Amino acid sequence: SQMQDLSGEKVRAAKNMAFVFDIDGVLVHGDRLIPEGQQVLEILNGNNELGIKIPHIFLTNGSGKLEGPRCEQLSKILRSPISTDQFIQSHTPMRALAEHYSTVLVVGGEGYKCREVAEEYGFKDIIVPNDIVAWDPTIAPYRVFTDEERATSRPRDFSQVNIEAIMVFSDSRDYATDMQIVMDLLRSKNGQLHTVADDPVSERIPIYFSQGDLLCPTEHPIPRMSQGAFRIGLEAMYKALTGIDLERIVYGKPEPATYQFADEVIRSWMEQIHNDETLPENIYMIGDNPASDIVGGNNYNWNTCLVRTGVYQGEGNDDENPASVGVFVNVLEAVKTAMRKEL
Ligand code: G3P
Ligand code: MG
Repeated sequence: SQMQDLSGEKVRAAKNMAFVFDIDGVLVHGDRLIPEGQQVLEILNGNNELGIKIPHIFLTNGSGKLEGPRCEQLSKILRSPISTDQFIQSHTPMRALAEHYSTVLVVGGEGYKCREVAEEYGFKDIIVPNDIVAWDPTIAPYRVFTDEERATSRPRDFSQVNIEAIMVFSDSRDYATDMQIVMDLLRSKNGQLHTVADDPVSERIPIYFSQGDLLCPTEHPIPRMSQGAFRIGLEAMYKALTGIDLERIVYGKPEPATYQFADEVIRSWMEQIHNDETLPENIYMIGDNPASDIVGGNNYNWNTCLVRTGVYQGEGNDDENPASVGVFVNVLEAVKTAMRKEL
């Protein structure tokens, strides 16, 4: 029975811990599996000495796809089921904005995928830059608009429409067109194109960004500019054109609102797997990017583990944002260490 006590205690400890995984650079590289990622999910899904599920969720700054199809794709790559109920991508918390805005400009992403995402989130009237270019091609003087783009866009007279908010969901595929249209809207009277506000502050519509990463590692030898760089460009242009600072709201890691949202997801996931929505006390964030995963986790009082399979390639711990638990060669080593500490 001493053995039973010990394992009862371990089971309690296992339910009092949770893992929050970054995706890119920790579990996968784009569409390519990091093998230790598959091993870790098998362990946490019950293939461990206790034979129980150890709660874990996924928190990525990725974007541009619906949660459902993205989870299906990740489940295939990682060969473990990943539920949308344990999955947060950068724009997931922006679903709540659909209660506040009905007519919105959605910027970024491939084709019309972000229009689909916004539709699924419940926004009623979704406009994308192509709809505006199709209505008035002079708005983006150097844009080459294909027949296919014209056929698939939804033009109408946007001088008669009040766009209530701008939502940057994903990386812009055409900075020149997107920046021009966003700037026109920010400077307009209440989101009406072909107008310029008399008072740039009181008549300005709000702008939201789904995440703030400056750079994103890709196949290219030097990381590529990401949504944060696009935002900083817009802010600088806005300041130069109006003399005032642009107020904006940014989601994603390392913003605290995203971590609060993650707590709620952990709670409801606990309810699903253990019938108990108590938030575990010992939460471990495992990430590859000190400037997003680690600083955000540290600020939110989570334990943080930095892995060397992604953005971070330094020698010891990161100087500016050191991970509280340490630096690991891969996600498996990080998870093993956390489990040894807690169980
Ligand atoms: O920078 C965007 C995205 O690729 C980052 O993904 O999973 O590392 O937060 P993740
Ligand atoms: Mg990452």
